[in-house]
Parts: sequence; C-alpha cells; structure tokens
Amino acid sequence: MKLVVLENAKRAAGYAARLLADAVARHPQIVLGLATGGTMEPVYAHLRAAHRVGLSFAGVQSFNLDEYVGLSPDHPGSYHSYMRKHLFDAIDMDPARGHVPRGDAPDPVQEAARYEQAIAGAGGVDLQLLGIGKNGHIGFNEPPSDGASRCRVVTLAEETRRANAAYFPDGQTPLRAITMGVGTILDARACVLLATGATKAKAVAAMIDGPVTPDCPASALQRHPDVTVICDPAAAAELCETTLRETELRGA
Ligand code: GLP
Repeated sequence: MKLVVLENAKRAAGYAARLLADAVARHPQIVLGLATGGTMEPVYAHLRAAHRVGLSFAGVQSFNLDEYVGLSPDHPGSYHSYMRKHLFDAIDMDPARGHVPRGDAPDPVQEAARYEQAIAGAGGVDLQLLGIGKNGHIGFNEPPSDGASRCRVVTLAEETRRANAAYFPDGQTPLRAITMGVGTILDARACVLLATGATKAKAVAAMIDGPVTPDCPASALQRHPDVTVICDPAAAAELCETTLRETELRGA
C-alpha cells in the first residue's frame, strides 16, 4: 500500500481527484469504480471542475460500489441521486454508462448477481475509488466480510445506519444494501482510498497496521498490489510510527 498524507482534507480530496482525472485523460475509455459519502463530495467537485476546463468523460464507464435496497433511482437518498447530483449531471458521460445497482429491483439477490456480471462484461474496473466506514467497511461490506465475497445483498450495521441517517428526511437509513463484495473490489486493477477526519483514524490504522481480517474488511486491501491510501493528518493520526516514517508526506 502506498500512503499519502496531505496537509488537510481539502488537499487530500484534490489529490485523489487528480489521480482520477489523470487516469481519465490518459485512458479515455477507462472503467472507473465510484464511491459515495461525504468524503467524496469534494472529489466530485474537482472532477466537475476538470470537465469544465476540458476533461471529457464521453468514453468512460463507471460502476458504483453500492446502493440501498428498496430505493428507486429517483429517491433523494439513493446513490443514483447522489451520483447524478455530484457528477453524472455535470459531465459528458452517457447516463447509461454510469452503473449503479438497482435498489428497487424486484429480486435484489438476482440484481447483485447481474451487477457482478455487468462489471465483468465491461472488462472489470480499472481504477476503483473507495472511502472507508468508521468500522472499516468498504462499499457496504460490513465486518465481518470475507475477502473473497462478491456482489451481494448485505444487512447494514447500526453504526453505518446512524452515520448515514442525515441523508434521509425521516432519519431512517434503509436496512439493507447491494454492494460489490470485497473480492469484487480487489479485482480492480488499482484502488484509491480517501479517508479524512478523526472519525476514520481507527479504521485507517486497522486497515494498514492491523492483520488482514474479515473484522476489518478494508484490511483485505493489504493483499492488493496497487492501492494508494490518501489521508489528512486527522485520519492518519493513529497509524504506527513505522508506517508514518515510510509515508510519502506531501505539503502544499
Ligand atoms: C457509506 C458508503 C461507503 C463510504 C462510507 C463513508 O457507507 N457505502 O462507500 O465509504 O459511507 O462515508 P463518508 O464519506 O460519508 O464518511
């Protein structure tokens, strides 16, 4: 794992966005894996800005990590809505190329299997953007999640439901989600994980310094040959000294 600690959250998000934008510029037909959550909002703001000054997404395809079971694409709390608001509506990618699991599919289990096949059918994900949950989840792979897991229907942890309650007018985060599995994520050719803020410090330390264990699903990324973890100082605060010494520290 390559670890980059930037001087603040804004710069960390900018660095992550730059990695994505550079990859799109170099490989216009790239398949991106995309993530949601508050951490990613400034990343998408950077990508929208990059598009305004000429970066084209016309050849890009994207696959989001996850979606809530039971929500239709036009539900304001859905990840379909999130992606339209933060990225899809502002770039030149054909909306049909921006894939998000259908939370309102009549058979969510079948939808998860279809989604896994759709990713494979597109040739797999070239570059996967990831956030991390406070409990070490990636996508919606809650602990414990097997490192070999594939796209599937999962039950959300109470902590995750609380963390996402603000996105729902009634505070009721759905109970279940369709998510890429940990194994699906590990199949991406490269991963970029962005973590900012003190609430992520424990999860970041467990992911990087801890053992590879289903109890911290993000720790499976230790087995991936091309992962860049980008943090602000608050998210990096609980990493061990040795890890921090080997870190690529960057200022402005
Ligand atoms: C959700 C998403 C994850 C995301 C996590 C962290 O649970 N499914 O993909 O990484 O939230 O979100 P935030 O950036 O809001 O802390």
